[in-house]
Amino acid sequence: MHEVLRVLTREGLSEAGVALQEKWRRGYEGLAQLMAQHIYGRVLEVGAGRGQLTLELLRYHQNLIALDASPGELFKLKKSCHATVVAGAFEALPFAGGSFDCVVSNFTAGWLNEEHMASALKEFKRVLAKGGVAILSDFYPEARSKAEKVALLQGLPENNLLPSEKWWHPEEIAALAARAGFEEKKLAFYDWGIRFTREEAILQLTRWHAKQEFIARVDALLSRYGMALPQSYVLMLR
Ligand SMILES: C[S@@+](CC[C@H](N)C(=O)[O-])C[C@H]1O[C@@H](n2cnc3c(N)ncnc32)[C@H](O)[C@@H]1O
Repeated sequence: MHEVLRVLTREGLSEAGVALQEKWRRGYEGLAQLMAQHIYGRVLEVGAGRGQLTLELLRYHQNLIALDASPGELFKLKKSCHATVVAGAFEALPFAGGSFDCVVSNFTAGWLNEEHMASALKEFKRVLAKGGVAILSDFYPEARSKAEKVALLQGLPENNLLPSEKWWHPEEIAALAARAGFEEKKLAFYDWGIRFTREEAILQLTRWHAKQEFIARVDALLSRYGMALPQSYVLMLR
């Protein structure tokens, strides 16, 4: 275990943990505010995870179903918010065609390879009513600084313990979306405005399941620049 993490663990992850939680809460608040301008009617959030975005979206839209494939995340999601929670996979959504006006998904693209992304987009299109919108967001794959680069590098398959795929460029998703029957695309960007100190960054990287060798390798960079979140793209498809 990394020496900073050992100290943090001994101290109950207190300061860095609390700082992280508050930074993320404010970040999700801003993202939900941006998305809320485009969301209406019956909303499906896919890959809701623990519900950090769900919680914020519910401030604007109560008619929301949150879906995830992981039993562990679903359990936390049910505890964290009052959304209707459903187990299911993107590639085979357990809903009839035309059931929703909006499908929203954040920080999930990186879990999908090209085949799964293509099937997911077809499913999003199928469950959307006529004129409905799919909104996909994730980190934009181009770092603007060394501090942002660390956040992107940790997500690459060679640096992470999770079976991650890659950072998608929104244009690549849009190309597959066109094949899935979406006719229009609109792109917006969201700046999280989040920077982490070295200690917070090590805790965050560990929570993201970055390999310990990777964390050790970027430690000098973290000491010098800390870590910053890259901007996210928000791709809207109709
Ligand atoms: C990084 S988390 C994102 C959580 C949340 N959307 C957020 O913004 O904090 C990705 C989530 O996508 C879910 N997921 C990944 N692939 C999936 C699939 N094919 N079908 C359903 N859920 C999936 C995972 O279980 C995980 O909870």
